[in-house]
Amino acid sequence: MKVMVLSGSSRPNSNTRGLAKGVCAHLEQQKVDVLFFDVGINELPIYKGGEDMEHPEVKRLQRYAEEADAFFVCTPEYHSGMSGALKNALDFLHGDHFRGKPVMIAAVGGGGKGGINALNNLRTVLRGVYALVLSDQYVTDMSCYNDRCELVHDDSRTRLKEMVCELLRVTKALKQS
Ligand SMILES: Cc1cc2nc3c(=O)[nH]c(=O)nc-3n(C[C@H](O)[C@H](O)[C@H](O)COP(=O)(O)O)c2cc1C
Repeated sequence: MKVMVLSGSSRPNSNTRGLAKGVCAHLEQQKVDVLFFDVGINELPIYKGGEDMEHPEVKRLQRYAEEADAFFVCTPEYHSGMSGALKNALDFLHGDHFRGKPVMIAAVGGGGKGGINALNNLRTVLRGVYALVLSDQYVTDMSCYNDRCELVHDDSRTRLKEMVCELLRVTKALKQS
């Protein structure tokens, strides 16, 4: 089984990257192949229709999405939505990449109730590409990360592990059906 983990922040010191790396660690513990794509490292051009389809990072993004049996998408909340960089990445993908595949989502917000708007926004966009977005979701905030942007909050790490297990359970059940 292959799971694509998509990290949606372009910031060099990104907590979302720490969240996504936490997800990758749990997947690797479960001996799952991880396809990690980070919009801050795998820099994409701005989507302009049919242009740039030969760009190496566009090709990587599309290949990973084709190969993936499931997705775990992590987004920061910026101005009450997902990041523009993540939306740009999703604009390079379409229903053939997502149809029938489970997707788990999680966010990083600034605190308080921040993060929920990004998840609602992401859920709507993923619905637009026919993804099977699972009901579960999770928000962390900056207090969950150390100064190296590593997810160090024990409850969050436990919760992420449960979400990874649920994603794998649903993905296996769908593959067997
Ligand atoms: C441009 C910008 C807009 C933000 N807007 C929000 C917001 O609307 N709600 C919120 O909870 N946090 C907001 N934040 C805080 C971020 O969610 C927080 O800094 C988080 O760590 C960002 O993820 P990143 O470190 O992966 O980039 C904003 C941060 C930035 C830089």
